[in-house]
Amino acid sequence: MQNFFFHNPTKLYFGQGQLSNLENELDQYGPNILLVYGGGSIKKSGLYDQVIGLLKKANKQIFELSGVEPNPRATTARKGIDICKKEKIDFILAVGGGSTIDCTKAIAAGAQSEADIWDIVTKKVHIDEALPFGTVLTLAATGSEMNSGSVITNWETKEKHGWGSPYTYPQFSILDPDFTKTVPRDQTIYGIVDIMSHALEHYFHHEDNTLLQDRMVEGILLTVIETAPKLLENLESTKHRTTILYNGTMALNGMVNMGYHGDWATHNLEHAVSAVHDIPHGGGLAILFPHWMEYVIDENPARFKKLAIRVFGVNPEGKTDKEVGLEGVKKLREFWNSIGAPSRLADYDIDADSIDAMAARTVTARSEFGNFKKLNREDAEKIYQRSL
Ligand code: NZQ
Ligand code: ZN
Repeated sequence: MQNFFFHNPTKLYFGQGQLSNLENELDQYGPNILLVYGGGSIKKSGLYDQVIGLLKKANKQIFELSGVEPNPRATTARKGIDICKKEKIDFILAVGGGSTIDCTKAIAAGAQSEADIWDIVTKKVHIDEALPFGTVLTLAATGSEMNSGSVITNWETKEKHGWGSPYTYPQFSILDPDFTKTVPRDQTIYGIVDIMSHALEHYFHHEDNTLLQDRMVEGILLTVIETAPKLLENLESTKHRTTILYNGTMALNGMVNMGYHGDWATHNLEHAVSAVHDIPHGGGLAILFPHWMEYVIDENPARFKKLAIRVFGVNPEGKTDKEVGLEGVKKLREFWNSIGAPSRLADYDIDADSIDAMAARTVTARSEFGNFKKLNREDAEKIYQRSL
């Protein structure tokens, strides 16, 4: 385990009725608020009216940016940045899923900088300030509500990059399981896969003495595996929505991965797929993760064995570490299939013709990626080939 420094400044309001804290939280900021949201789910659910009501009650001047796409685009962030600069926005409020929050982070950074947002995303320019922002989360998946990361797509060049800064943590996030009850079945499944994938990305590292961290990550996986089928039986269950919501935040707010770096190659592989084909992040991960696992298992079969035994209940008797590990991968695949996640790139009409373009995009930031095992463009091609 390495030395580490940990600081997460985001205030979390968790549970039913927590939206009542919005007015208080906004008290300290000036009057001009930019409300950022997606394609309209919050209007359908009634959350938009609730938020507008509270902002008016707090005497705020409301500006709006709607239509943030799933896999949010730099062009949309630029629209928000323009509003912030023109209208002297004091605070940004994101109401939505990870895409709305990620776009808001880009707007917050771009609003305080002369640089173009794509130069910030691609780390050509480093920011040293951002507008303050808060979030009301409507979809359990990314953990963006309590981390400083953001993933933005440049649709013109078909690139999708993750970036972040100490200035892009939300000031506060309001998480009410009721707001996630309208998330459709497919998006609920993608969220479940994304949460599990964050736990899996953490799990694969070469650091020793991470006993508590391992148990916490395994705890997230076990809890999600136990809860997901029950939630999918009843999408309006407050109890199960609550469990998944809490797991989503904990999987990527820095709490379970202190003192080591996880792998993150599969996220890079998935971002390259959705940069070219605009597919849902969780759908891509469900296809790619088991293939990545099989591809890199020789790097440390004992690590895979540990996961297989502790999370998937594989019986190790009379088997090699690798055999046990591969059984665990099989069980992961079976679980994702059982909840209805996609398992082949063909499920999104992606065929071999795309492999070259996708593989090229795994190495635009650097020539190698992944921490557990360093991969290059050829490795990416092979993993995509297996995933077709
Ligand atoms: O746009 P609206 O109309 O709101 O509809 C959204 C969207 O169509 C809908 N939705 C959200 N909440 C809903 C709802 N529909 C009904 N009821 C609700 N309560 O769901 C669809 C998907 O929303 P989106 O925000 O795109 O999903 P998600 O939260 O999974 O975010 C995905 C994005 O986050 C990035 C992904 O790459 C992708 O671009 N990630 C961000 C991370 C981070 N910042 O830390 C880490 C992740 O690994 C991930 O890469
Ligand atoms: Zn993810």
